[in-house]
Amino acid sequence: MPNSHLKLSANQRGTIINLNGQIIPIDEAKVSVFDRSFLFGDSVYEVIRTYHAQPFRLKEHLVRLEKSAKICQMKLSQTSQEYEREVIRSIQTYQAQPGRQKEDVYVRLIVSRGAGKIGFGLKNLETPTLYSIIVEPISMFPNKSFQEGTRLQISDRMRNPPLALDPAMKSGNYLNSLLAFLTAAEASFDDAVLLDSQGFVSEGTTFNIFYVNRGIVATPPNDVGILDGITRRLIIDVCIKLGIPCREVRFPKEYLYTADEVFISGSVKEIIPVTQLDQKKIGNGKPGPITTRLKQAFDAQIESEMIGSTNVAHRV
Ligand SMILES: Cc1ncc(COP(=O)(O)O)c(C=O)c1O
Repeated sequence: MPNSHLKLSANQRGTIINLNGQIIPIDEAKVSVFDRSFLFGDSVYEVIRTYHAQPFRLKEHLVRLEKSAKICQMKLSQTSQEYEREVIRSIQTYQAQPGRQKEDVYVRLIVSRGAGKIGFGLKNLETPTLYSIIVEPISMFPNKSFQEGTRLQISDRMRNPPLALDPAMKSGNYLNSLLAFLTAAEASFDDAVLLDSQGFVSEGTTFNIFYVNRGIVATPPNDVGILDGITRRLIIDVCIKLGIPCREVRFPKEYLYTADEVFISGSVKEIIPVTQLDQKKIGNGKPGPITTRLKQAFDAQIESEMIGSTNVAHRV
């Protein structure tokens, strides 16, 4: 697709770009070919979404960004407060556009280790860490509906072992997930779930996974090598609130095949029931009762958190 086309469609959907603290036109939003995110995938990032036009659990995302940076020995040149301020300012800029005041957005904050000479050594760096914030309408990221559910493939591709590339770090190197996704898509599945080096279920390409059996909810523990999902945490808390037992345990893929219910979680996906895994239909192929209860409680939790918070239009 020619660049001019990209610029036009991004303008039409109201995309806002913040590059190192400057909100700039889309055609000026360029990154150096010497940027280490481009050369090596040497970057960390977060995806945040808004509800009622306000960022959801932004502070938790920024804590995770710091954790990701620490795992890859990246010294961030901005504080969390600075990132928070710039994320909110970028959302406000989006909302200041005609007709977009109440729209919900997807926010991607990407931090590169910087740009400089080609080479791994930090002495090659000629800049501090660089960041960009992309704000897009959430409608750009359509999900399978809750009612429809999703069909997943168990990938033959192993999830990165923590000693190779720790999945707890949300780095710009997503090839492990991306390749699993492409193989699943080729076989007409919606997405893929990966196993760890011992054959235990870890997580999906961009989501965490849960199953329900005889009223008990289970999800792989963080130390199997997964992203410590913010939605996953929220679901565990909701289970506790509702008195639904929830266990963080290792399990093989067969437990998913025979589960009463399976569902996935992520900031943009929220909670989506899995209706098919490989060739096996899950439950009766419809959202199960516990998944439905959790989704209702999840929605209520979001509502109650957002009602208490101030609209970003009035902050900063
Ligand atoms: C690999 C992976 N696992 C899990 C998740 C879900 O995390 P969260 O609920 O914080 O969005 C993501 C989100 O992008 C992800 O990329």
